Amino acid sequence: MLNTSSERRKNGSDQTKLVERILDLKRKRNAVILAHNYQIGPIQDLADFVGDSLGLSQAAAKTEADVIVFCGVHFMAETAAILCPDKKVLIPDPHAGCSLSETVTAEQLRRWKSQHPGAVVVAYVNTSAEVKAEADYCCTSSNAVNVVRSIPEDREILFLPDMYLGAYVQKVTGRKLHLWLGECHVHAGILPADIKAIRQRYPAAEFLIHPECGCVTSCMYYMADGDIPSNGTHILSTGGMIKHARRSPAKEFIVATEVGILHRLKKENPDKRFIPVDPEAVCQYMKMITLEKVLTSLEDMVYEVRVPEDIARRARRAIERMLSLA
Ligand code: 13P
Ligand code: SF4
Repeated sequence: MLNTSSERRKNGSDQTKLVERILDLKRKRNAVILAHNYQIGPIQDLADFVGDSLGLSQAAAKTEADVIVFCGVHFMAETAAILCPDKKVLIPDPHAGCSLSETVTAEQLRRWKSQHPGAVVVAYVNTSAEVKAEADYCCTSSNAVNVVRSIPEDREILFLPDMYLGAYVQKVTGRKLHLWLGECHVHAGILPADIKAIRQRYPAAEFLIHPECGCVTSCMYYMADGDIPSNGTHILSTGGMIKHARRSPAKEFIVATEVGILHRLKKENPDKRFIPVDPEAVCQYMKMITLEKVLTSLEDMVYEVRVPEDIARRARRAIERMLSLA
């Protein structure tokens, strides 16, 4: 906590110096900095590209830089390493994991597949490389519906690991899916009661909700029943929220996802108001990445994320199938 204005000024100038050193090293190393929408503001501000999981994989696949500094969580950096085997992919903190990706292991998936021989496996991008290697398709929150729609109607589908995203896709596509019962602790904590209360407080606001939220299935149910007005409710990936807020004429938005996204929403739309459903919806893994760690990452070229080639080859197939549909 900074108490005096001189402490705050010093902190501001320290941060400017840190950013200058990062940018200088970035040029020397021919590196690119990719940041997820949930990263802290200063990291988003210095990144070359800020986006959702899909946008970040596309940016990684296209970059001509020699080094990718991935400011996000481990599975995202792994996806970049799988797509760019000739580049050095660094994550500034190797402990930045994801509670959702940890709900399923490759061994558990192999067992599930053996109970449904011939089923098509769709794995959300929030999974380890080993799990992706066992999947037929990868998907993200912004293309899960299209991925499932691209699979012939008569095929059985195993969808993992997020049950709320799976239930959402099931509802939108009308396809019956087998769902893995995984959840993200940040999004699962956003509950229907929180939504009801906040929507009553801001009746004119549009409602933006991430499909991983614990309330998404009940929100769809309430929308179908007319209890929640469906015209102001939008179920979107983090990237979809950014695009929607830019285009919408609305002036107020209730946002149901991790609060890191508010930085970009506010920065790009200074005349609009964004209200988090839960100001405590913070992903501690995303917040492990700091400016100091980004600097160390570029100085010492740490921590490199590598995926063994046999796993990468199989995981790449699932990711590339997804990218070809995007
Ligand atoms: P997006 O793909 O919508 O950015 O979501 C990633 C994620 O980890 C959500 O918690
Ligand atoms: Fe994983 Fe949840 Fe954090 Fe997203 S918000 S990275 S799903 S733990």
